[in-house]
Amino acid sequence: MPLKNTAANYGTIAKWLHWGTALLFLGAYVSVYYRQWFTAPCDANGCPTNNWNALQLHLSIGISIGVIVLLRILWRLYNRPPTPEPGTRLEHLAIKTGHYALYAIMILAPLTGYMGTGINTDFFFLFEVPKFESTPLSSTLLSALNTPAEQFEKVVDFIHKDILGRWLIWILIAGHTTAALYHHFIKKDRTLQKMTTGK
Ligand code: HEM
Ligand code: HEM
Repeated sequence: MPLKNTAANYGTIAKWLHWGTALLFLGAYVSVYYRQWFTAPCDANGCPTNNWNALQLHLSIGISIGVIVLLRILWRLYNRPPTPEPGTRLEHLAIKTGHYALYAIMILAPLTGYMGTGINTDFFFLFEVPKFESTPLSSTLLSALNTPAEQFEKVVDFIHKDILGRWLIWILIAGHTTAALYHHFIKKDRTLQKMTTGK
């Protein structure tokens, strides 16, 4: 199987990047909702171990998605996607827009998560990634915006959790997955095969 995309199929690298990212999204959701629904909350004495570990896992997975999307964009720029399946101009436009929107959330979700979190990340329990607040970019940005750190964190956190995490990401991924299944089972074209077996 070729590493690069061909006119007929996505290549091995694009497939690994795609399915790896999909798995990481699943991990980001499972870890954060496991923390919220199945662990005791933090209190004045700190956080229970399982609560803290689940949070750290969420932060680590989220940061990984942020790094992988940059590699993915570079690979995408260097490597044209396969020829689209036959369809109307409107269908092709909808597919393109959907894919750009997915790239946008792969950037915005990690970015807002990172910028809105006031703790360091213990990256997969291996090493520390400093919180945004303690990076030089933070002070430059806050003085440019003339906003106190707390206010900034509140807004960014709202975008991360209430707009992206709870709504937009679900809608986009559900729409994307439904479209893939529609192409495979109803239109019976090669859309899904291009990203899987290549047959
Ligand atoms: C693609 C990557 C990410 C996705 C899909 C994602 C998704 C989510 C979701 C769904 C929630 C829960 C929203 C709710 O309360 O209903 C959440 C909360 C949170 N996220 Fe992310 N996130 C990502 C990346 C990050 C990153 C990189 C960080 C920080 C380094 C981060 C920090 C947080 C924090 C601190 C919370 C609150 C946790 C809690 O209240 O239990 N996230 N995120
Ligand atoms: C079960 C879940 C998923 C299925 C079945 C699926 C399926 C597919 C398929 C069949 C394609 C090729 C579409 C085409 O050639 O027109 C594709 C492309 C793509 N998928 Fe997914 N996907 C899933 C999850 C995700 C997730 C979680 C993301 C990111 C948040 C994502 C982002 C993308 C992007 C950006 C492309 C376009 C790649 C490019 O050409 O640059 N997918 N997906």
